[in-house]
Amino acid sequence: MYNLLKGKKGIIFGALDSKSIAWKVAERAHEEGAKFVLTNAPVALRLGTISELADKTGSQVIPADATSIMDLENLINQAMEILGGKIDFVLHSIGMSVNVRRGNHYTNQDYNFTKTGWDVSALSFHRMMSVLYKKQAMNEWGSIIGLTYMAAQRVFPDYNDMADNKAYLESVARSFGYFFGRDFKVRVNTISQSPTPTTAGSGVKGFDGFVAYAEKMSPLGNATALECADYTITMFSDLTKKVTLQNLYHDGGFSNMGISTAIMDDFIKQNEVVEEPKKENNK
Ligand SMILES: NC(=O)c1ccc[n+]([C@@H]2O[C@H](COP(=O)([O-])OP(=O)(O)OC[C@H]3O[C@@H](n4cnc5c(N)ncnc54)[C@H](O)[C@@H]3O)[C@@H](O)[C@H]2O)c1
Repeated sequence: MYNLLKGKKGIIFGALDSKSIAWKVAERAHEEGAKFVLTNAPVALRLGTISELADKTGSQVIPADATSIMDLENLINQAMEILGGKIDFVLHSIGMSVNVRRGNHYTNQDYNFTKTGWDVSALSFHRMMSVLYKKQAMNEWGSIIGLTYMAAQRVFPDYNDMADNKAYLESVARSFGYFFGRDFKVRVNTISQSPTPTTAGSGVKGFDGFVAYAEKMSPLGNATALECADYTITMFSDLTKKVTLQNLYHDGGFSNMGISTAIMDDFIKQNEVVEEPKKENNK
């Protein structure tokens, strides 16, 4: 390990179980010498296994629903008290769509569910930063990261209203990042990660297809949760001080691909199989 985060203090949102991207970030941040608090929604603390991670990394867990200003204020006050000062890095690793969970089609959303999903997945990023900003809780050259997916830029029909939530999240990173940079020299970015088998990821309809397709399309293959954690650590480190307001693709090259030979070969093979019986029928 490289001691990239030696002496740094952080807050990590969203570790539910050992598959969570936030879980891997916490493990890697610990290995790189950081101290941090872990947080998740109270219900997730009951259902998940976060206390295992807390023990392993010598961290405390503070419950906070990311839709509640009061919870976030309490979290940030407590985090500064526990860690003994201002914060150097924050990971927002939160996502949930009620429409996806209930199987509502994109064209037929329940807008109360849409609002809840947006509140949890997107507005929470603004809310979290707003509390950090007002409390002047971030150290200079601190780093804030949100996780996103490229359905914010391109159409993935089954990603449903999460695509819109991610577009909002990425916009908030730029808009709030301006004020955080100007006023506190804090950088704000989003990392756009490959499809990754986690609880949130696997909830998306046809997820296995997503993963297999992206794997074949990306010259470097899909990025794993651990690889995402490695990248996130570099973004928390002092080696990336002037990177801000960016949406950073961490996807093995997927986002710039048109077609790969592997996908084309599959397509041709499939069409040959479909076309042959047709020819026989025509005879
Ligand atoms: N898995 C993927 O394919 C993938 C790809 C790109 C981006 N992402 C993003 O990565 C992030 C982390 O997701 P993950 O894949 O590790 O799945 P995950 O299910 O392990 O993490 C999602 C987390 O959000 C938390 N959460 C939900 N509602 C909350 C609330 N009200 N307050 C606080 N926390 C709440 C959950 O408890 C959970 O810990 C999400 O933003 C997700 O959209 C995931």
